[in-house]
Order: sequence, then structure tokens, then C-alpha cells
Amino acid sequence: MSSQVTSPTTVGVRIDQGRLRERLDALAEISPIPGGGSSRLALTDEDREGRDLVRSWMTDLGLDVTIDSVGNVFGTWKCADGAPVMTGSHIDTVRTGGRYDGNYGVLAGLEVIETLMASNLVPSRPLSVGVFTNEEGARFQPDMLGSLVYVGGLDLETALDTVSIDGARLGDELVRIGYAGPAPVPGLHPHAFVELHIEQGPILEAEGFTIGAVDGVQGISWQEVTIHGQSNHAGTTPMRLRHDPSFVAGAITVFLRDLAIRFGGNQVCTVGKIDLSPNLVNVVPAKATITLDVRNTDETILKRAESEIAAFLEKLANDEGVRIETRVLARFEPVIFDEAVVDLVEQLAIQHGHSVKRLPSGAGHDAQMLARVCPTAMIFVPSHLGISHNPAEHTDDQDLVHGANVLLDTMWHLANDSRIGAH
Ligand code: GLV
Ligand code: MN
Ligand code: MN
Repeated sequence: MSSQVTSPTTVGVRIDQGRLRERLDALAEISPIPGGGSSRLALTDEDREGRDLVRSWMTDLGLDVTIDSVGNVFGTWKCADGAPVMTGSHIDTVRTGGRYDGNYGVLAGLEVIETLMASNLVPSRPLSVGVFTNEEGARFQPDMLGSLVYVGGLDLETALDTVSIDGARLGDELVRIGYAGPAPVPGLHPHAFVELHIEQGPILEAEGFTIGAVDGVQGISWQEVTIHGQSNHAGTTPMRLRHDPSFVAGAITVFLRDLAIRFGGNQVCTVGKIDLSPNLVNVVPAKATITLDVRNTDETILKRAESEIAAFLEKLANDEGVRIETRVLARFEPVIFDEAVVDLVEQLAIQHGHSVKRLPSGAGHDAQMLARVCPTAMIFVPSHLGISHNPAEHTDDQDLVHGANVLLDTMWHLANDSRIGAH
């Protein structure tokens, strides 16, 4: 396969930096937060405004716009017959998001199409840009929910019945914001899928690479842990008589950090959410609810981490006299992308004069779901200091442009080279 893509040539046109920057800023201005980022949790009013804006740009470009029944939006340039070469990402954000995570991939996709149209370069397959629902998983779990439903990995009814952290039903929110569309899910299989994204980690910048050819995504294990104890008076209850959920939540947090350090390698663990009830200064809590985010590129090690955590929870419940319940919020195995598409990204980036590193993604992405149904890979650009899920997230304009130009050539090749892609 790799001999087919040893020396792809670039098509020679370049995206418009000013237009990409203007769209990124206009989208960020819909839901600005201090520090320069955005807060657009999935299916909120802010998400609707963002969707409306992106949809208007798709319409202005003359794209065929479709919305499916889980709210994924697709803008397709129907310039030829056949399955499209698809790109895309998401425009929902975490509550304290930056302006690049997801948005960049969607808007660079529009930029690719607009640039080719303006240059009278018509590919041999349709090109499509997808905006997938609830990629972040911050409001509804699991993450990548829209793309998971698109590829048939989660049935529509279960997805629509998902309840958010604020108690809203996903299906009701879709209707409320006007994005319960008519297109069926699972959706059509693209010919190939390639997603452009900021790295969100420190590696490319620290090692001096300008483009990442992403060869896979690490596995993700999310669970919610609820600890039921004995609420009591903080001043009168002797320490030996306590059944304290806040202590247990803290012990789990420390255990996860120690586990990650002990395992080393790619192991990461995070407790991102801690809720105490009744959450008062002088009350031993009745209940603690925390979330665990555990990731590794190696499924066997990820499973070992999960089983060590389960054993620790059981021991804590016995030692502390509390009741512990767990609920899986998301579980995705590591994904390996299509070798030929990764090669193509790498070769084209080299042709563009970049230093390229092959690396797996630490973050979850819609591409890992699309990889179930068509040849898929991703392109990364550097993230300054590796900061992401933070309004301070930053990538230099020059790097944004580099990534979009590599995306353009990758999509062009995938649309015109019949040897790569689904058959
Ligand atoms: C999605 O952004 C994730 O948590 O990886
Ligand atoms: Mn993202
Ligand atoms: Mn994200």
C-alpha cells in the first residue's frame, strides 16, 4: 500500500489565512469567556448559535446541508458522484474551552472547499465537512456521541435518552435548539475521513515538529463513582466513628495519581469533577460523586488499571464503612488509523516542507469513530505549551495555515487517487 503513496504531489493552491482567522474569531465571539476562549456546551443555546453560524457559511458556499437525527450537520460539495471524502470535527466545547479545539477542523474543512472552488479545481469525489454532536462529552456522556451514532456504534434511542449533567434529555435538547434533523443514522460510509486538529499536548512544539501525522488514539475509560457515607457533625464526631465520603474521594484521587506514576509510559489518570453533598463547612458529607478519566494507548494496561482501581474501591468501602457505586460513562478501546492515509498525510506534509512526527492522540476525536467505517487518519498542528481545554489554548496562525494546507492536499488526493479509500 505504501508504495502507492510514496511521492504524492501537492495541488499547488493555498487556503486563505485571513478568512480562516475571521471565521475562527467569529465563532469564538458567540460564546466568549475571559481569557479568549469559548463556552459552548453541547446542545445549549450557545451551541445552537454556533451551529447556525457554521450552517450559514455552508449555505453561502453552495454546499448541500443535511442534519441527521442525532444533530450531526454535514455540508457537502456535490461536485461528483460517489461516497464523499469527509473531514470535520466538532464545535461544542468544554465549559472553559479554547477557540481551536474542534472549531479549527470544521472551519479548515470549509476553507479547503472554498479554496478549491475559487481555483476551479473540481475533485473526482464529493467533499464533505461534518460537525459532530457532543464530541466533548462534557455535558452528555459518552464523548464522541454524534460520530458514534453516525457509525452505528450506539443506537439512536439510547443516544436520545442520554441525560446531561444538568438533567436535560439529549433528544429534547436537539428538538429545542432545532437540530433534530431528518437524515437517518447510521449514516453513509465516507470514502475516507481525515480530521485536522490542534495537538492539545506539548510534544510537537517541544520537539520542534510542525505537523503531526496521527496514527491512532489512546483508549478511554470514564466512570462516575458515588460514595455514600454517614453525614454528621464536623465538631462532635470522633475521627474513628466517621464514614466520610470526602475522605474516600480524596483517597481515590491520590490512588489514581500514584497508579499513573507507577505504571509510567502513556498512562494518564484524572479526577476532573468532585461533588460533595451537602457541601458545607461543618458537615461530614453524606455523599461524594467523582469522575475518573483513565487513558492508555495499550488496551491490556488500561484493563489492568481498571481492575486495580476496582480492587481499591472495594477495599476502601470495607475499611471506611461506606457504600460505593460505579457507573461507566464512556469506554473506548485504543484505535489504530489506516496506514495508507497516515502515510499520505506524512508524505504530503514533507512535500510542504514540514518536519513531521507520527504520534498517537492523547485526546479523543470523532475520527476514532469514523475509523470503524472507512480509512481514516488525522493531522495535528502544534499547541503552544500543550495547553488545551483552557481559554489560553493557542496555535500560531502560521501553524493553522500549514495544517489546513496539508488537509487540502490530503483531501484532494483521497478524492482523486482511487487506490486509497473504501471500495
Ligand atoms: C475530548 O476532548 C477528550 O476528552 O479527549
Ligand atoms: Mn476536539
Ligand atoms: Mn476537547
